[in-house]
Amino acid sequence: MTTMLASDLPLPRIGRGKVRDIYDAGNDRVLLLTTDRISAFDVVMAETIPMKGAVLTQISAWWFEQLEGVVPHHMISADADAIIGDVASLRPHRASLAGRAMLCRRTTVFPIECVIRGYLSGSAWKEYAAQGTLAGEKLAAGLVESDKLEPAIFSPATKAETGHDENITMAQMREVLGDEVAYTLESMSRAVYTLGEKISRDQGIIIADTKFEFGRDGGGRIILIDEVMTPDSSRFWAADAYRPGQPQPSFDKQPLRDYLDTERRAGRWNGEAPAPALPAAVVEATSRRYLEAFRRITGADLKIEGADG
Ligand SMILES: Nc1ncnc2c1ncn2[C@@H]1O[C@H](COP(=O)(O)OP(=O)(O)OP(=O)(O)O)[C@@H](O)[C@H]1O
Ligand SMILES: [Mg+2]
Repeated sequence: MTTMLASDLPLPRIGRGKVRDIYDAGNDRVLLLTTDRISAFDVVMAETIPMKGAVLTQISAWWFEQLEGVVPHHMISADADAIIGDVASLRPHRASLAGRAMLCRRTTVFPIECVIRGYLSGSAWKEYAAQGTLAGEKLAAGLVESDKLEPAIFSPATKAETGHDENITMAQMREVLGDEVAYTLESMSRAVYTLGEKISRDQGIIIADTKFEFGRDGGGRIILIDEVMTPDSSRFWAADAYRPGQPQPSFDKQPLRDYLDTERRAGRWNGEAPAPALPAAVVEATSRRYLEAFRRITGADLKIEGADG
């Protein structure tokens, strides 16, 4: 099976993120195509991770199905044959779509990343350890790193065009979106995370935190868009290895991070692009982790028919 670094489909391309290519699919729809690119420490690697794009797309698709009736969302289909049936010009490109493409309702995206944290980790732990707050709000005293936060904390950020997203307060979010939209986005984020965190914890993955995006569709409805509770938009931890009081290994990217850390400590990498070349064993270990994340969350092995990319 081959992997995909970048796609080239006969549709107008309207964007290219670190990992995904976005196309205009006509009729108020977008086609999101997740490549096998991977980034770590904010640097995109030269190598691709086999099956990663399909894992990300199919985990999102699985969540959208679980969310039917909970929140409205953008997914039309993540099945290559159904997509080809809808967008005829894609017929010769089935192998590039298989597993990794999702046809979605097009929206005007709200310029806010809706981050929700159920566990104290990363930048949130740093802020709490330094000043006892999270997103500027005081938290209970005595929490340790990776502790469960109850209730989960909603901490919005701005979508930065370049570089790092910047955390903002709820008051700032209300200023940008208005009270009603801000309230709706927070409630929808909480509903989705509460459902997702419970389901995945029972299956052996802790979703420590995650980021949602929302948009307004042609009918004026606010819907959940983008990717949902994937390893790229979330912190995934192995539930059986969870030990509060310390950082947790990343379920999906730890083999890659460990390798890059070793290279950095040995003075062979300065932490900036380009990253060092990845040995085949690191690529394979990372691919296995992504497939295992899919298996744990959905309870089934990922099978993609006729995938060549
Ligand atoms: N239904 C939708 N309608 C319109 N835009 C969408 C929809 N779903 C997702 N998007 C947009 O598509 C893009 C997905 O690209 P991608 O995730 O690769 O890039 P990014 O979010 O800009 O960068 P990164 O995730 O690497 O930080 C995002 O800008 C997202 O807002
Ligand atoms: Mg993104």
